[in-house]
Amino acid sequence: MSAFQRFRENWVRPALFFGNNPISLVGGAVTTASGVTLIGYWLVELFGHVTDNPYLGIIVFLILPALFLSGLILIPVGVLIRRRTLKKAGRIPAEFPRIDLNDPIFRHGIDIVLVATVANILVVATATYHGASYMDSPQFCGRSCHVMAPEYTAYQISAHSHVACVECHIGTGAKAYFSAKVNGTKQLIEVSFHPLAPLAPRIIPNYPTPIPSPVSSLRPARYTCEGCHTPTRFDGDKLLVKSSFADDQQNSESQTVLILHLGGEDSFSHRTGIHGVHLGHIEYIATDPTRTSIPWVQRENPDGSETVYAASALNGVQPKGERRVMDCIDCHNRAAHTFVTADEAINRAMADGVISPSLPWIHKEGLQLLKGEYSSQDDAAAKIPQQLEAFYQAQDPDVLSQKPALVKAAGRELVTLYSQNVFPFMKVTWGTHPNHIGHQDYPGCFRCHDGDHVAKNGASITQDCSACHNLLAVEEAKPKVLSDLGIQLPGQ
Ligand code: HEC
Ligand code: HEC
Ligand code: HEC
Ligand code: HEC
Ligand code: HEC
Repeated sequence: MSAFQRFRENWVRPALFFGNNPISLVGGAVTTASGVTLIGYWLVELFGHVTDNPYLGIIVFLILPALFLSGLILIPVGVLIRRRTLKKAGRIPAEFPRIDLNDPIFRHGIDIVLVATVANILVVATATYHGASYMDSPQFCGRSCHVMAPEYTAYQISAHSHVACVECHIGTGAKAYFSAKVNGTKQLIEVSFHPLAPLAPRIIPNYPTPIPSPVSSLRPARYTCEGCHTPTRFDGDKLLVKSSFADDQQNSESQTVLILHLGGEDSFSHRTGIHGVHLGHIEYIATDPTRTSIPWVQRENPDGSETVYAASALNGVQPKGERRVMDCIDCHNRAAHTFVTADEAINRAMADGVISPSLPWIHKEGLQLLKGEYSSQDDAAAKIPQQLEAFYQAQDPDVLSQKPALVKAAGRELVTLYSQNVFPFMKVTWGTHPNHIGHQDYPGCFRCHDGDHVAKNGASITQDCSACHNLLAVEEAKPKVLSDLGIQLPGQ
């Protein structure tokens, strides 16, 4: 007997005989179905349909492989059980039934399996394709994964609301895609087990609240932002006008006007201004996980030499910490998810007139209501308008009778501002995610430009106000420069 025949006689025939039991058959069906679904998903991916949706991920990376495996395990389990029962009953045949392709029943059985498999593939591939394209959308991702609510909410009102999450968070290339999947799977496990986590905090993984920032796995901006933005574009100077309101009864309005020297690379290849200078090679070491404390900065000069700017407290010792090449994200860290301060939120809404500056004390009172403690966004939505009315009731009931619509609108807008920036269930509140652009509310540029980062030759990273901007007016009421330039502000 050849080895092949022996294999057939001693293994295949007994396996087919013992395998003919309900447990093994269910196992086979489960394995086939999940296997076919997986193949369908992979085919869809092969044609370039990537998705970072967590729920599809749960199905494809956890549930389907688990089903596939448990089906595979059920097959031998069924075989063993049947063998034991038959052995006990003394009913194991001396010779196992033959595999006979001439047997019409057996042949039809195979036909049915073949047809069913082809149909399965067609159905499943199509379903997966449609499912995947739906789930690929940021809308689905942001909405179905409540953990992302803060980022998704901010994203929807950002300039990037039409840029898919994957464009910045994954970028192009198979390696990036793979590492995103590994990372995503870890997060899925954390999200899926979240309800159980408090029972055994050390064993069951849980997701962190808030989701930590910076995203250490985010790829260099070269592979993400620069797919759309040209860093060397020369932007020249940019005019910035900011309105703010005081805490007095009239909500006195004033404007800050500045010209930012954005620069870039000019037609003579000179790199100037805020964008230009940092395009060269700048590396830094951050000594805290949020990249706020940056005591050591190294710049590669145009002639190839290097200058180290170190905080005086270091006494010449290079600190330990994350070493990173500076790119867009070191300034634009909130490009798609800008959370503003409560003051900025209400100032903008008042400048736009959505919260009417004609309501007495509205800046002071609104700010206090925004910063209040609420257990959830629903709680805030119920209490803020109520408390605003109660305030006017107590202080100035005429406002309620004369401008009821404006008070209602202000209450509604305060709720909106709160819900765009504070997410109690994720422990995201005012100031949780600092913005590195500027230096007023957070250290931002002054993480390096604090005048204390000094090179060996005594030069320091500049803190000269005019290197970055010309201040044309600082909190001035109706600054003349605006009328000189013919700039009209909303509501004036
Ligand atoms: C324009 C690029 C861009 C797009 C589009 C984008 N993000 Fe981000 N995202 C970022 C940057 C930049 C950070 C902060 C990275 C850092 O500081 O390291 C970030 C951070 C995050 C964080 C970490 C927590 C935090 O708030 O810093 C989460 C979660 C997140 N994004 C989810 C999403 C989701 C969900 C979408 C799609 C709905 C999305 N992002 C779309 C650029 C983007
Ligand atoms: C898929 C294309 C795309 C990618 C990727 C992208 N952007 Fe943008 N970005 C845009 C578009 C389009 C606009 C202009 C939107 C408008 O004018 O309303 C914009 C606007 C901006 C603005 C000005 C508006 C604002 O929010 O202040 C900044 C700054 C910016 N992007 C930075 C970034 C950074 C940083 C990254 C990488 C983390 C990035 N972008 C990735 C397409 C992109
Ligand atoms: C040193 C900090 C810094 C770095 C690095 C940086 N930017 Fe900016 N960028 C700024 C500042 C400051 C502004 C003006 C902000 C404002 O308008 O309030 C700005 C504005 C912009 C704008 C809006 C321009 C306009 O005309 O309104 C875009 C787009 C932009 N940056 C993209 C990028 C991209 C892409 C990169 C990476 C190649 C980058 N920036 C790197 C600081 C930086
Ligand atoms: C990681 C450190 C770091 C951060 C953060 C940083 N810079 Fe710089 N910046 C440097 C270094 C290094 C230089 C080069 C030193 C020099 O020329 O004095 C520089 C130079 C500049 C210059 C040119 C100064 C001159 O004298 O010509 C401008 C303008 C500037 N930065 C603006 C900004 C702005 C605006 C921000 C915040 C949005 C910012 N920088 C954030 C490191 C940083
Ligand atoms: C390293 C660059 C840099 C230096 C140095 C710098 N600033 Fe600024 N400053 C910025 C940027 C960038 C913004 C705009 C932030 C934004 O886009 O909202 C800003 C904004 C401001 C604003 C308006 C802020 C607001 O939100 O109302 C004031 C006021 C201001 N700077 C004052 C100063 C003064 C005074 C100095 C000198 C002691 C100074 N800055 C030095 C980069 C710088």
